[in-house]
Formats: sequence, structure tokens, C-alpha cells
Amino acid sequence: MTTRSLFLLPGDGIGPEAMAEVRKIIAHMNDADSAGFVTDEGLVGGSAYDAHGQAISDADMDKAMAADAVLFGAVGGPKWDAVPYEVRPEAGLLRLRKDMELFANLRPAICYPALANSSSLKQDVIEGLDILIVRELTGGVYFGEPKEIIDLGNGQKRGIDTQVYDTYEIDRISAVAFELARTRRNEVCSMEKRNVMKSGVLWNEVVTATHKARFSDVKLSHMLADAGGMQLVRWPKQFDVIVTDNLFGDMLSDIAAMLTGSLGMLPSASLGAPDAKTGKRKALYEPVHGSAPDIAGQGIANPIAMIASFAMCLRYSFNMVAEADRLEAAIAAVLDKGLRTGDIMSDGCQKITTAEMGDAILAAYAG
Ligand code: IPM
Ligand code: MG
Repeated sequence: MTTRSLFLLPGDGIGPEAMAEVRKIIAHMNDADSAGFVTDEGLVGGSAYDAHGQAISDADMDKAMAADAVLFGAVGGPKWDAVPYEVRPEAGLLRLRKDMELFANLRPAICYPALANSSSLKQDVIEGLDILIVRELTGGVYFGEPKEIIDLGNGQKRGIDTQVYDTYEIDRISAVAFELARTRRNEVCSMEKRNVMKSGVLWNEVVTATHKARFSDVKLSHMLADAGGMQLVRWPKQFDVIVTDNLFGDMLSDIAAMLTGSLGMLPSASLGAPDAKTGKRKALYEPVHGSAPDIAGQGIANPIAMIASFAMCLRYSFNMVAEADRLEAAIAAVLDKGLRTGDIMSDGCQKITTAEMGDAILAAYAG
């Protein structure tokens, strides 16, 4: 029997609550579908800091590297606001991304029909929305050196971050975007700030060259990232795949998340390059939302982004396309029934807890 190894990192805040719902689905798939998932669990973020003074331990890093896929909840919270920068909760996530070389972050924003009226945007603007943001995840200003605060000695300090991109980084992320576009509506919009930033000029050049050399069948357009943000809220359905750098992707994907009604809806996949021998990609799946410390521990968080992240895991790490489709359909079916967690609640719907949402999705999946 196939075994599929999953390393679970629930993290902080609502992370463990959301992960508990995925655990139920994994258990069901092992029982009913003989899926052969073998799970192990580790600590990341504030919970790892509390246990061993690091945002993720070396032992857990090794397990993440060895697993077929990592499922990640969320990290951070006010409890760890004062911990040193190097071991702040987010450092655990950034280390996972960097050490596993997860350069390609896929953030699909889909508007479920049942939620078309819960966005802050007008219904006709977001109804039927299906866009994919491809965010570069291991470069740019997140990791560029120097990254420091220096004392200028005159009572002033200087904070420095460095935005840096090399040709190969832009080439490989745009190739991912073009390949995914071919499986969708075949359009890519690249976003940068070439009017201000040298890295933006290079980004634009390389995306254009990669397109010309290998993907000229895909329709390519370019947009300045600020205009792109504006267009995302003006008429988001003009986009199919958006490819952009680490920082712009962080911001644009939060905007895209709100188009879908709630940050609690958006899943993501972070993928490495396929291994030369096995073809396998290292991969981490996480909801786009954070740890939401304000509602943590109350059992009211929305587990859908976490469950949808697991659906992406089935699709991209295990090629379990039928199961992924079925799980996504189960989410849609539960929303159609009017079941809602608080963040997506609207008139005439039934408000349910995190666990009830997980159970309802599992019941619809098992159907
Ligand atoms: C995200 C998050 C992270 C990021 C934080 C938690 C470091 O906002 O995944 O979008 O900035 O990338
Ligand atoms: Mg973010």
C-alpha cells in the first residue's frame, strides 16, 4: 500500500483549531479510501519558541524536509511581540520557505457562489471570480541582504531592507505561472514597479524573455503593481493568473482574499522545484489567514482555508485530483446549505462552530 507522509505544523492561535478539522478528514480518508497518510506533528512559531526558544527546531526542520508535504496552520500573536527578531514566530515560516526552497506560492482566489454577497464588493464584481496569484516566495525584500538597522551615531538610526532578484528567480517563477495558465484561461499578468525599481525593470525583461522563448502561446500582459491593486478591486475578473514578487504578492493576495468574502477562505500552496530524479516537489500548504489571536481558543474560527489548503495538497503533492475535486465540492455544498462560521455569516444563514463546519464538510465529502 502507498504511504504518504504528512508533517503537521499547527502553530499558534487558531492554527491548531483549524488543523484539527483537517485531521478528521485525513483519518476518514485513511479509513474509507485507504489513502495511507502517515502523519507526524511538530511545533512552529510562538509555540516552538515557548518549548525551545526557537521559531522552529532543527529536528522539526529535518522532518519538514523529509515529508512528502507539510501542512502549516498559522503563527504569531501578541504573547510573542517582545521576543527577539531572529526568533519571532514568523521566522519559523520564513525558514521553512527558504530552507525548503519553496519559491512558488500559489494563492487561488475563488468566489463560492453562496458567498457572492458576503464580499465588501458588489456582487456582480466578484460573482464567478476565479483568479490565481503566483507569488515569488524565497527572494526579494523578504530575504535580500543587507537587512539591518544601523546606528548612524548622530542620534539617528537607519533601517535597511534590500530588494534583490536574479534572472533565474524571475525565470522560474514566471515559468510556473505560464504553465498554470495553460491549464486555465491561458492568460498571465505580471506585476512589478519598473517605473521606480531596478528589480522591477529586470522582472519585466525576464518575464518577457521567458514568455517569448517558451510560452508564446500564453497571453501575457504587464501592470504596475499599484495599478494592479486598484484593478483587483475595480474589476478582478479581468485577471486569470497574476505573477508577482514576494512583497507585492503578499499585499495583492490579501486584497484578493477579501474579494472572496473573508480571509478565512483562502488556501495556498508553496512549492519547490521538481527533484531531478524523482520529479517530486517539496511542498507546504497553508491558509493565507494568520493566527487570529483575538478569536483563538473559542472554537469559532473558519477552518475552510485550512481544509482547502489540504485539498491543494491532495492535488499538487499526491495527484489525488478526484479527491481534491470532491473536497472542494464538499466545501461549496456546505456553503450552499447556508452553514457559516462568524466571519462569513449573513442573514438567513446558520451560524456554526469550527468543529461543526469541519464535520459538515467531512459529511459532505463522505456523502
Ligand atoms: C503570508 C504572511 C507571511 C508573509 C507572514 C506571516 C510572515 O503574511 O503568508 O502572507 O508576510 O509572507
Ligand atoms: Mg500576508
